[in-house]
Amino acid sequence: MKVFVTGGAGYIGSVCVEELLNSGHQVTVFDNLSEGHRLAVDNRAVFVHASLSDKERLLEAVRDAGAEVIIHFAAHALVVESMANPGKYFRNNVAYGLNLLDAAVECGVKKFVFSSTCATYGVPEQVPMTEDLPLRPINPYGQSKLMFEQMLEWYRRIHGLDFVVFRYFNAAGASKQFGEHHRLETHLIPNVLRVALGLAPDCEIFGTDYPTPDGTCIRDYVHVVDLASAHILAMKPGKSGFYNLGNGDGYSVRQVIQTCAQVTGKELRTLEKPRRPGDPPRLVASAEKARLELNWQPAFSRLEDIVRSAWQWHQAHPHGYTS
Ligand code: UFG
Repeated sequence: MKVFVTGGAGYIGSVCVEELLNSGHQVTVFDNLSEGHRLAVDNRAVFVHASLSDKERLLEAVRDAGAEVIIHFAAHALVVESMANPGKYFRNNVAYGLNLLDAAVECGVKKFVFSSTCATYGVPEQVPMTEDLPLRPINPYGQSKLMFEQMLEWYRRIHGLDFVVFRYFNAAGASKQFGEHHRLETHLIPNVLRVALGLAPDCEIFGTDYPTPDGTCIRDYVHVVDLASAHILAMKPGKSGFYNLGNGDGYSVRQVIQTCAQVTGKELRTLEKPRRPGDPPRLVASAEKARLELNWQPAFSRLEDIVRSAWQWHQAHPHGYTS
């Protein structure tokens, strides 16, 4: 199929583009490189360097691509930043995203696959979290993604635009070629691996007084290659709806650091810091719906394997795409 991928130069987008191409699809990547990297775009894809804010350029690009499917990764995605600068999140993730929805309708795109997040749930009433839990975001990032989900519903009802929404839990790991390189790195696993590489002195632990067994936050880490495979399944005709993507296992910050120490064989010093604003204590997915309805089967569900793939990539690219 002809697939138009926004944010295809970013972390999850780059791996998804690689998997799409490996599966024989034709891919156009649309990215403004504000967070992504040109070197993260598979050289088999067509690349358009432009921004979602440029409505005309966007429409032209979707039309030129002959897009049958749009996969929309492009977004700002940092919880902490969204707590300081909500406007950036509502403008980019909601207002500019709307330009893409309009282009999809105008060009007769058949399916829209959207990268959403478990941050749409806020602090869940129960874990593992199913898709029918209340959606009550506690940060503007989660709110902006929820608003886009709601816009999609209306576009389906009114314009017949079919969609699959994926609520990712914590993406981690790497493919052989593409990995995680944010200009400002805030994510746990890459930060800990920087310590293992000798590029940072300590693993910072944000909050040790959460209501969890060891006092640190619990997350569900899911391999980026497994996220990519879900997108390919979502493109099949007849698939639509909202799906969590996670492994169903929760790991605390301390457990993640321990696993990184085992995988890298390094001693990792830790430094306890105050809580980070906007962090829910515990997020763990039930991805039963994706398994049953999409036949999604994660290939790398063990945290150790996820961390090992990230470690291999970071060792090969200690300075990310700038090395
Ligand atoms: N953390 C640390 N030290 C660090 C980095 C993170 O203790 O150096 C902690 C955080 O406070 C949090 C946990 O590790 O408790 C995971 O933090 P990440 O920044 O790796 O991931 P988040 O859970 O904050 O956010 C990620 C994505 C979001 C997504 C969210 C859903 O960035 O886009 O997962 O959980 F919405």
